[in-house]
Amino acid sequence: MNKILILFVCVLSCFIYTAESLTLPQLTAQINGKVISQSSPDFNNARFGYNYRYNRVPQVIVQPLDTASVVLALEYAQTNNLLVSVKSGGHSAIAEGVQDLRVVIDISQMKQISYDPVSNIITTQSGNKWVEVYNYTINQHQVATPGGSCPSVSVGGLTLGGGANDFSTVYGLATDNVVELEVVLANRSIVIANADSNPDLFWALRGGGHGGFGIVTKFKFNAHPVFPTYYSAWITYSWADFEDVLTFVNQFSKTMPNNVNLYFTAWRSSNATNPSVALSCFYNGPSQLGESQCGAFRNFSGIEKNTFITPTSFGVTNASYYETVKNGTDPKARSSYTSGSFLVDITKQVVNKIKTQLEKSPLTPYTFNTARLNLYWQGGEMLNKARDYNAYVHRTYPWNSVWLVSYVGQEFEETYGKWIKQTYRKFESYSSGVYQNYPDENNLDNWAEAYYMENYPRLQSIKIAYDPTNYFRFAQSIGSTSSD
Ligand SMILES: Cc1cc2nc3c(=O)[nH]c(=O)nc-3n(C[C@H](O)[C@H](O)[C@H](O)COP(=O)(O)OP(=O)(O)OC[C@H]3O[C@@H](n4cnc5c(N)ncnc54)[C@H](O)[C@@H]3O)c2cc1C
Ligand SMILES: *[C@@H]1O[C@H](CO)[C@@H](O)[C@H](O)[C@H]1NC(C)=O
Ligand SMILES: *[C@@H]1O[C@H](CO)[C@@H](O)[C@H](O)[C@H]1NC(C)=O
Ligand SMILES: *[C@@H]1O[C@H](CO)[C@@H](O)[C@H](O)[C@H]1NC(C)=O
Ligand SMILES: *[C@@H]1O[C@H](CO)[C@@H](O)[C@H](O)[C@H]1NC(C)=O
Ligand SMILES: *[C@@H]1O[C@H](CO)[C@@H](O)[C@H](O)[C@H]1NC(C)=O
Ligand SMILES: *[C@@H]1O[C@H](CO)[C@@H](O)[C@H](O)[C@H]1NC(C)=O
Repeated sequence: MNKILILFVCVLSCFIYTAESLTLPQLTAQINGKVISQSSPDFNNARFGYNYRYNRVPQVIVQPLDTASVVLALEYAQTNNLLVSVKSGGHSAIAEGVQDLRVVIDISQMKQISYDPVSNIITTQSGNKWVEVYNYTINQHQVATPGGSCPSVSVGGLTLGGGANDFSTVYGLATDNVVELEVVLANRSIVIANADSNPDLFWALRGGGHGGFGIVTKFKFNAHPVFPTYYSAWITYSWADFEDVLTFVNQFSKTMPNNVNLYFTAWRSSNATNPSVALSCFYNGPSQLGESQCGAFRNFSGIEKNTFITPTSFGVTNASYYETVKNGTDPKARSSYTSGSFLVDITKQVVNKIKTQLEKSPLTPYTFNTARLNLYWQGGEMLNKARDYNAYVHRTYPWNSVWLVSYVGQEFEETYGKWIKQTYRKFESYSSGVYQNYPDENNLDNWAEAYYMENYPRLQSIKIAYDPTNYFRFAQSIGSTSSD
């Protein structure tokens, strides 16, 4: 009697098991795409992203080619009681797209793209890298939308967290140009989010899209005409002029027209005695007019030194924006720490602190190691929206400061980690908010406040509406308080 009952229970549960849970062979057979198991020769390559400090081992990596296959991958995970993580280009500074023991839904092979000249809309799946987007939109249709400035960063992650490049001072953030998204929700339904359909979800995904609302499979962007070539200057100065250069750059930024964009950077390579300093000045207009703005950096009067400051080099390129992005350096396999914040202002005190902090950066014998400050100008049209226009809240202060160490050699991990932490603390009281596309899990006491500020409560309620069981969860998903 007992035996029969046990047999019956077993038959029943085995039946339920095969009827309801998708096995890995079934997934492999049914999917349009690739299933990369731990034993596959591709596994190691596929599990690493930009930051090699993270060495995570997922259960399996699935690379779907269409939205139905994303749903299938999700079905495999959910019916086997597994969690997922979502990866597009893999540039997350904290490797949030690849998690131990999970199913990685890797969107990087979903690359369909089209442009409709009538509606002036670019439609792309999430896996295209920005160099691929521009290769298509600029080279074939002479249009573009703001995106990334490095070739390998992808549409998915960059757009969902904001997205700024040289075009953004005129056309706004990548995310501000999104007019529609296709999303796979936690309950495996496929929905459209735009101003009319699921408008709350649409609001949340634009800036809060890394937060675990769903898997975005398709983006529609407004397109803008491009000039065939752009003026762009790469200017270097002597370290001795650091204070005067940064002070002038900041002064210039306060009155420059929206079609000028600046990127200021200072770094120590390896064990160099002095750090280096450089400025990029981009002009979004006819190339022959670029010099009328960026020419100011050829010779200006210093305040600290009370002499004229001139560069050590001033290189001008005149090239299509596709060419510029294509030539951008793809970072090699390195470990890194990233920590940033929007600076409220670049006062004399801030300038001095930046200089001191760079001079205190660790010295290492490895040629490739660098400790760096990037100051990205995120002004112009990027600030010309209300702070609650969408989930991207950072509409008040234009200078996005990002401190970055990039290194080989495990023995430097602690030294560099400590320096980054000390640096973050030094600038905390001069800052307001942290750009969520440079996430940080080593220094922020309250990442939710730092990334989303007053928009966070609304994000929390939208998260509950669209993912009531909190299936899409990870260290910095909306509502998370710890790394579970
Ligand atoms: C070399 C380099 C250059 C950069 N240049 C720029 C720049 O010019 N401008 C700028 O604004 N930022 C820039 N960034 C920052 C960049 O925007 C972020 O790293 C961005 O999140 C990367 O997106 P990804 O798809 O490549 O990375 P991923 O690591 O794949 O994704 C990043 C995050 O988004 C989530 N995600 C990815 N795809 C989806 C999806 N389809 N649906 C739901 N969630 C998803 C992931 O889970 C993860 O949390 C740069 C970063 C690096 C490392
Ligand atoms: C650009 O597109 C062309 C085809 O249109 C392709 O041959 C080339 O490899 C692409 N280049 C990049 C960098 O994507
Ligand atoms: C930039 O390059 C284009 C195409 O090669 C050329 O027509 C134009 O004259 C150049 N402009 C300047 C200012 O050099
Ligand atoms: C910089 O400008 C000043 C004032 O016009 C001029 O006297 C000086 O010669 C210039 N320096 C250089 C290197 O062009
Ligand atoms: C891109 O790189 C090539 C080869 O190094 C060079 O000839 C070209 O001038 C570069 N273009 C830009 C825009 O940097
Ligand atoms: C920097 O490191 C290199 C490589 O290890 C070494 O040859 C050189 O002497 C070092 N220079 C200084 C200034 O320490
Ligand atoms: C899936 O979730 C969404 C958002 O919570 C909900 O509106 C929709 O009805 C759900 N669909 C199904 C089939 O349960």
